[in-house]
Amino acid sequence: MQDEERMMDNDAQSSLATGEAGDIALQGRALHFGYGKREIFRDVSLHVRKREIVCLLGGSGCGKSTLLRVLAGLAQPREGAVTFLGKPLDTPHPRAALVFQQASLLPWLDVTGNVGFGLDFARQPAIDKTTRETRITKAIEAVGLRGNERAYPAQLSGGMAQRVALARALAREPELLFADEPFSALDAITRAGMQSLLVELVHRWHTAVLLVTHDIDEAILVADRILLMGKDEGPNAPGRIVREWTLDIARPRDAHSSDVVELRMQILAALRELQITTD
Ligand SMILES: Nc1ncnc2c1ncn2[C@@H]1O[C@H](COP(=O)(O)OP(=O)(O)O)[C@@H](O)[C@H]1O
Ligand SMILES: [Mg+2]
Repeated sequence: MQDEERMMDNDAQSSLATGEAGDIALQGRALHFGYGKREIFRDVSLHVRKREIVCLLGGSGCGKSTLLRVLAGLAQPREGAVTFLGKPLDTPHPRAALVFQQASLLPWLDVTGNVGFGLDFARQPAIDKTTRETRITKAIEAVGLRGNERAYPAQLSGGMAQRVALARALAREPELLFADEPFSALDAITRAGMQSLLVELVHRWHTAVLLVTHDIDEAILVADRILLMGKDEGPNAPGRIVREWTLDIARPRDAHSSDVVELRMQILAALRELQITTD
């Protein structure tokens, strides 16, 4: 068992060496994080290539959100380093955008205002008024909200609000989108639509994605690569990346195709073997 885990660790690490530097959007090396004496994760290394969709899959409490915050420059690792587009990262990068489970829209701004809001940060590259308007219109249209430009957050369904959050992120034309369980609060039908939309949009925008999820099917339908995060038994065991799968499954993916069913079984087997649970 221990040897197998070590092999898996090696598998997870080996892909570090296979990526070529110019092709890499985000890289984390030997990351370690904790709160006080509590270790949250240790020795985590991963990368996301440009235009690649990587899903970080794991049960609740294993440290996914904390890892995402460290990789996004929102928290500092105790050890290790994060590089974004080849440069060390210690604060959020203007070429990266974030989407969370809650859309976090500003209630006093309409859809156009909320989508434009992400373009107004001081660290954001300056753009002229026409470019700004074009980007907002294009993003609103792309997420299917044309005609709702003047609507306020209180008038939107959960799915629509999350579309606005996605448009706000895309309008910034990010190199990489960090997404932390962005569809977990949505009903199953809306969620399936949003998963396909996300893939379609990031392909169109040439954006890389690091998507955190506890949903195996979401990871399989969306990812180019899945990193399975887990932790050993015991309340204080740190999280780590235990397995990695590269998905060579044509899109659009069918949840019932033999490739998808096979991969789902492999992931479930790994979870059982490593005694990881997802909810
Ligand atoms: N501010 C904090 N202080 C202490 N522990 C924390 C804090 N934030 C999160 N944790 C703990 O870190 C662990 C990992 O949390 P998190 O990264 O949110 O996991 P996940 O996203 O995988 O569910 C959890 O056990 C959580 O209780
Ligand atoms: Mg989380």
